[in-house]
Amino acid sequence: MIELIKEMPKAELHLHIEGSLEPELMFQLAKRNNINLPYANEEELRKAYEFGNLQDFLDIYYAGCNVLIYEQDFYDLTIAYFRKAKEQSIIHTEIFFDPQSHTSRGIAMETIVKGIRRAMKEAEVQWDISSYLILSFLRHLSEESAIETLEAALAMKDEFIAVGLDSTELGNPPEKFRNVFEMAAKHGLLKVAHGGEEGPAQYIWDSLSILKIDRLDHGNRAMEDVDLLKKLAEQKIGLTLCPLSNLKLQVVKNLMNHPIKKMLDLGLLVTVNSDDPSYFGGYINENFEAITNALDLSKTDIKKLAANSFNVSFASASRKQEMLLELEEYFDN
Ligand code: HPA
Ligand code: ZN
Repeated sequence: MIELIKEMPKAELHLHIEGSLEPELMFQLAKRNNINLPYANEEELRKAYEFGNLQDFLDIYYAGCNVLIYEQDFYDLTIAYFRKAKEQSIIHTEIFFDPQSHTSRGIAMETIVKGIRRAMKEAEVQWDISSYLILSFLRHLSEESAIETLEAALAMKDEFIAVGLDSTELGNPPEKFRNVFEMAAKHGLLKVAHGGEEGPAQYIWDSLSILKIDRLDHGNRAMEDVDLLKKLAEQKIGLTLCPLSNLKLQVVKNLMNHPIKKMLDLGLLVTVNSDDPSYFGGYINENFEAITNALDLSKTDIKKLAANSFNVSFASASRKQEMLLELEEYFDN
């Protein structure tokens, strides 16, 4: 089964590009940009990757962002992820970036977007990996700051496909971002939001009704509300689950308690993703492998998870068809 997973064509729909920054590249960029890291070496940094909750992780994740200054840094970060994506048979990916964690340090929106997009275009030509970019707002900051961020990005509107919402969930409900999501919709952007990772099921209801999301990131706590599960199934909302992230951030105590198999059996459009692979100990294939072992997933389950990743992606209908066909052919052989 592990061999089957490795070369299976798949899409990744929940990946924070800043969360793919490996310690080796972090130290390399720190040296290049003359930035002092509060860790002596890569090993010491890795030892700090013990998290009691989401906030513990976010503190270290934002500190890591400080090494990213120039367009070339954002390019190097992104191309390194694509190299990994190619190795893991990802054929389509939708990447989050957190502009506010950079613009707040005086980095221009253009610098960030240009660097990331250059790598995305190169990966499409070199490795046939299609991709989209999702501009994510930090929910611990104000809606005003989110609006400023969106306005700064609108000059490059064609470079991204959707807006998202991440960072500290508890205490920052969806309604805080009602206006900025409305603005994004008016500009033709799609909408996703993290919800139900640590926050209650009500935050998922509100993401649907107030933010009018096209896809839900995480969504674990939907399991607490039968009516919500029904609603997610009826509305055909895709869910981007991140098993190793949930384990590392103690959203689940053990992967045997992970809801992905139950959700799959309920007919929800769930997918497997890595979230912040450098921090959580695995890229997409390691996530597939971990849940396959913990939940005893069948070949049919694995194939369905991959098919869902194409179906709930923002790819065009023709690209979806092409990817689904590739998946069929893979399983036929
Ligand atoms: N949750 C919220 N914010 C984040 C995450 C996450 O898993 N990863 C990066 N920012
Ligand atoms: Zn995330």
